Amino acid sequence: MFRARIIGTGSTTPKRILTNVDLEKIVDTSDEWITRRTGIKERRIAQKGAGENAFDLAADASLKALEMAKVSPDELDLIIVGTITPDRQFPAVACLVQNKINADNANAFDISAGCSGFLYALSIAENAIAVGSCKKALVIGAERLSSVANWQDRSTCVLLGDGAGVVVLSQADDDNGILSTHLGSDGRCWELLYSEEGNPDPPKILDAFEGKPYYLAMEGNKLFKKAVRHLADVATKALEHNNLSASDIKLVVPHQANIRIIQALAEKISIPMEKVYTNIHKYGNTSSASIPIALDEANREGLLKPGDIILLVTFGAGLTWGASVVRWSLDIF
Ligand code: UT7
Repeated sequence: MFRARIIGTGSTTPKRILTNVDLEKIVDTSDEWITRRTGIKERRIAQKGAGENAFDLAADASLKALEMAKVSPDELDLIIVGTITPDRQFPAVACLVQNKINADNANAFDISAGCSGFLYALSIAENAIAVGSCKKALVIGAERLSSVANWQDRSTCVLLGDGAGVVVLSQADDDNGILSTHLGSDGRCWELLYSEEGNPDPPKILDAFEGKPYYLAMEGNKLFKKAVRHLADVATKALEHNNLSASDIKLVVPHQANIRIIQALAEKISIPMEKVYTNIHKYGNTSSASIPIALDEANREGLLKPGDIILLVTFGAGLTWGASVVRWSLDIF
């Protein structure tokens, strides 16, 4: 069995910034409410015709991650994209990325696991590397949640954003890398967050926005409680599995759904917020993309050093959840 290690990170978000003040013109909301209840100040929204499809964002982020990893696209064996907003029903976003970056030797496919898509994809790639069927993989979270936002529903549209994040995984030659990944699902609660039939007219302020014939529906309150419980439980399980305590963790990189969920998680697992990476104020909830975007930003900001123990933890539609413990081994400075 081989360990999988992260040797490159990358992320890309669309150029257009939609602020809370912009949203005040679209739905009955306020910057004060959104900031206080969610921690979000602004989000990025992909523009039609601007080369900002999910696969474009993912391909751009992939090239940045490959450059950091010093890996050429034709060395890749595997490309997996976690997404709930693929550009087309088929082919997979992963194949569109493969085509765009010329990763001609890779197998490419998508997986759908709500906001947990990135950690589910990471787990599949980690296992492929562990058994030796893959040496180098791209693991991607890529979303255009703006395309499934109901822009008439203030309780959900203010939360969502677009973007893509990527890690390059490689077979490790030592004991560093992903120590373990733990996943969970509960299909009984699928109705707390799902895609609904319908296509509400996008508001004029989003005139270049391209909607889809379904949109996101959510029972926020119930989901909030489930989120805190499952995040804390799976984080605890991951730490216990590796005989680690909260004080061993250098940085937690959680899914960015709501700052209050993140704060409640930190409190439950006894980790101070200084050790929790957040960028929700800039991007909102980007579903599968949120962890790899945050991980890339933390990495490029110099917050991760070889030997550091990192906890990645997520929760989303399905319900799904997951946690990975990583002993960091990448030094980009
Ligand atoms: O990524 C996958 C996982 N995602 C999650 O787990 C999300 C979990 N849920 C949440 O983050 C929160 O429940 C929300 C951010 C969605 C909502 O926050 P909340 O503090 O739970 O608010 P609420 O739904 O209890 O609503 C409180 C009030 C309501 O008004 P009344 O009934 O008290 O008069 C809402 O109508 O806030 C109102 N409200 C808003 N007001 C201004 C809801 N959305 C808005 C809004 N602007 N955008």
